[in-house]
Amino acid sequence: MNRSDLQSEIRDLLRERNGILLAHYYQREEVQEIADFLGDSLALSIEAAQTEAEVIVFAGVHFMAESASILCPDKTVLLPHLDAGCPLADKITPGALEKARQRYPDAAVVTYINSSAEIKAHSDICCTSSNAVKVVKSLQDSRQILMIPDGNLARYVARFTDKEIIPWDGYCPFHHFVQPEEIARAKAEHPDALFIAHPECNAAVVEMADFVGSTSAMIEFCRTTEAKEIIVGTEIGIMTPLKKQNPEKIFISPSEHLVCQTMKMITLENILKSLKTMKPVVKVPEAIRIPAKRALDRMLAIR
Ligand code: 13P
Repeated sequence: MNRSDLQSEIRDLLRERNGILLAHYYQREEVQEIADFLGDSLALSIEAAQTEAEVIVFAGVHFMAESASILCPDKTVLLPHLDAGCPLADKITPGALEKARQRYPDAAVVTYINSSAEIKAHSDICCTSSNAVKVVKSLQDSRQILMIPDGNLARYVARFTDKEIIPWDGYCPFHHFVQPEEIARAKAEHPDALFIAHPECNAAVVEMADFVGSTSAMIEFCRTTEAKEIIVGTEIGIMTPLKKQNPEKIFISPSEHLVCQTMKMITLENILKSLKTMKPVVKVPEAIRIPAKRALDRMLAIR
């Protein structure tokens, strides 16, 4: 079957099953094209929480489907490829978190949404890259914050608060291994370009950025900036909406590290198969879902 046949069969099945396709900006172009909703991690969670559809097909990674299952236990959540995990989410275990809690008994635990449901269940509140600073500032009674599992995001947030931020030593390999030299090279090749970075990039790279923000904040920046050339410090999937929305601008990816292999595991073929078989289902058990939902709801209440 060719691309457009696959796309129209998926759309037909979504209608038949009263389903919606939610897709992250890092997804393949052909998947983004047919999504009902395209967004960053925060927007996708909000959409999952609000939808009236009975079936949610998640074109993203495992923690995103889990978040949908936590927020909508009555809906069927499908993740078309179960191996589509997030290497950053794997950088912490419940046992390691428990030890850290014992070491910092007064610290509030702020957990990046890129984490397993079980880790969320042991957290005080969640955050995404869109709202991390707001979330930390909202914790008025806490002077000390343990931010897990992304150390780079934690160090970025620390710039905006006088609370003591204790960063976990996890990272997203795709963002973390972008080198300052690669940015310097891209800037030398494109002297008029601005450089924008995701806060999952390492501190030396973030330091070089003209703008730092979540995927949706980066998209908004590119839409409104006068700059005609932009070096984009995040996963290459974001090039799809950037080029579509700004055909007159030039976008440059500075590093070959910026390809998330697990996001790319979701294909039109496995979305179609998943809708036909109604598998694989992601369902978070109630004992984990309820405390995890508390941490997500606390975050969603902050606007
Ligand atoms: P955003 O919330 O900015 O979309 O980030 C998601 C993510 O997984 C970044 O690697």
